[in-house]
Amino acid sequence: MGRKSGETVAFITLALIQVLVSDAVEIKPSKNPAAVGDTLTLSLSPSTSFQSGSWAVGESQILTWLGAQQAVFPSHSGRASVDVLTGALTLSSVKVTDSGVYIVQSTDPQLKANTSITVLEAVSNVTVKATQTSLMESNSSAVITCSVSSGSSPTFLWMNGSSEVTASDRVQLTDGNSTLTITNMTRYDQGPFRCHAFNLVSNGISDSVNFTIIYGPDNMALTVNGQNTTSFTAGSNLTMLCSAQSNPPAQLQWAFKGELTNTSGPLWELLGVTKDQSGPYSCLAFNNRTNMNSMITMNILIARSSEQTVSVWLLPLLLLTGLLL
Ligand SMILES: *[C@@H]1O[C@H](CO)[C@@H](O)[C@H](O)[C@H]1NC(C)=O
Ligand SMILES: *[C@@H]1O[C@H](CO)[C@@H](O)[C@H](O)[C@H]1NC(C)=O
Ligand SMILES: *[C@@H]1O[C@H](CO)[C@@H](O)[C@H](O)[C@H]1NC(C)=O
Ligand SMILES: *[C@@H]1O[C@H](CO)[C@@H](O)[C@H](O)[C@H]1NC(C)=O
Ligand SMILES: *[C@@H]1O[C@H](CO)[C@@H](O)[C@H](O)[C@H]1NC(C)=O
Ligand SMILES: *[C@@H]1O[C@H](CO)[C@@H](O)[C@H](O)[C@H]1NC(C)=O
Ligand SMILES: *[C@@H]1O[C@H](CO)[C@@H](O)[C@H](O)[C@H]1NC(C)=O
Ligand SMILES: *[C@@H]1O[C@H](CO)[C@@H](O)[C@H](O)[C@H]1NC(C)=O
Ligand SMILES: *[C@@H]1O[C@H](CO)[C@@H](O)[C@H](O)[C@H]1NC(C)=O
Ligand SMILES: *[C@@H]1O[C@H](CO)[C@@H](O)[C@H](O)[C@H]1NC(C)=O
Ligand SMILES: *[C@@H]1O[C@H](CO)[C@@H](O)[C@H](O)[C@H]1NC(C)=O
Repeated sequence: MGRKSGETVAFITLALIQVLVSDAVEIKPSKNPAAVGDTLTLSLSPSTSFQSGSWAVGESQILTWLGAQQAVFPSHSGRASVDVLTGALTLSSVKVTDSGVYIVQSTDPQLKANTSITVLEAVSNVTVKATQTSLMESNSSAVITCSVSSGSSPTFLWMNGSSEVTASDRVQLTDGNSTLTITNMTRYDQGPFRCHAFNLVSNGISDSVNFTIIYGPDNMALTVNGQNTTSFTAGSNLTMLCSAQSNPPAQLQWAFKGELTNTSGPLWELLGVTKDQSGPYSCLAFNNRTNMNSMITMNILIARSSEQTVSVWLLPLLLLTGLLL
């Protein structure tokens, strides 16, 4: 008992000295956190010369050294070594389980210091999976999940083309941001969407996910000779161009005065038009996936060139005459 308490007093005295000395020496890790497989060196700063000492992680001894001799404990055999002059510890091929508080102790000179080291597994094989990639524009939602084959506590971030996806009333990020849910998909949500997964030691990017959004036809437009003008002189050539927003592309068909013609496709050319070709021209669009139709109509007036010239001069003249009378 007496011997035990004597030891305790000695231990406390030693501990006090150690606390005083340890303020002066710090452990400098070559990196922290470190990635699995890295070689890690724990150096002491300021650099000191040692006769002897030991390294431990938590309760577990790593090695001890005395002069030029070092002894590595079985748990670290083959992957730990010390520079006997500087006391620097080198650990090769570190594992996640090598995380912990590393403690160096020496009696000559007297010191004790510790540092906490974290070893993280690098993220690898970032994979995305979408429940469905072909969707109707109205009232459908998409779910994409991101996963990694390995990696310590990854953080997830989503990209839509070159911009980051942020949560909104239509966009939800759940499961630590690893799941992206988009509701009310629009034609502008085709992507490409990518998932970035990273932790303090690594990062990885998934392949892209593209959505095929089925929509339309809508937002139709019709131009004649590239303009919005609807009056032309007899003998003109008319090139009518029709467009519709639609996926898959709409099938286009032309009608004149409410009667379907045999002309299909976006272009209809009429050469040397005559007066009786005046009337309503329609372009009809059909999307065979949405089963929706849409139509645009333009009333075209073909005037005899002389008639039109006359009307330009005559109308103001007639008005003027009317006013004078
Ligand atoms: C590490 O050192 C600090 C003081 O520098 C001390 O408070 C702490 O108890 C030590 N931790 C271990 C596990 O030795
Ligand atoms: C990558 O992850 C996918 C899905 O999680 C899995 O099927 C595949 O085997 C993994 N590939 C590698 C090289 O780990
Ligand atoms: C949207 O879809 C859900 C189920 O998929 C359905 O219950 C709901 O009635 C739909 N709403 C509209 C406006 O189509
Ligand atoms: C999604 O669309 C439905 C009808 O299609 C609408 O009632 C709802 O408010 C929309 N939700 C959002 C978040 O825009
Ligand atoms: C999820 O992402 C948002 C940014 O969109 C970020 O503020 C948040 O901290 C992230 N959450 C997690 C658990 O990573
Ligand atoms: C994706 O980006 C496009 C613009 O490039 C935007 O219109 C669309 O709303 C975005 N979708 C999501 C889900 O972020
Ligand atoms: C998605 O679309 C982009 C172009 O927008 C293309 O580069 C990429 O290969 C597509 N990804 C897939 C998986 O088809
Ligand atoms: C035709 O008119 C519409 C509106 O009436 C306009 O949005 C469009 O830009 C015009 N196109 C040309 C080629 O002038
Ligand atoms: C109409 O087109 C025909 C054949 O393409 C051409 O010979 C003629 O000169 C054109 N007429 C006008 C008014 O441009
Ligand atoms: C359309 O084509 C059919 C046969 O291919 C023909 O009988 C018909 O007269 C054509 N109609 C018009 C308006 O050109
Ligand atoms: C649907 O329309 C697309 C585009 O116009 C066309 O390529 C496809 O053959 C059509 N499918 C059927 C079943 O008609």
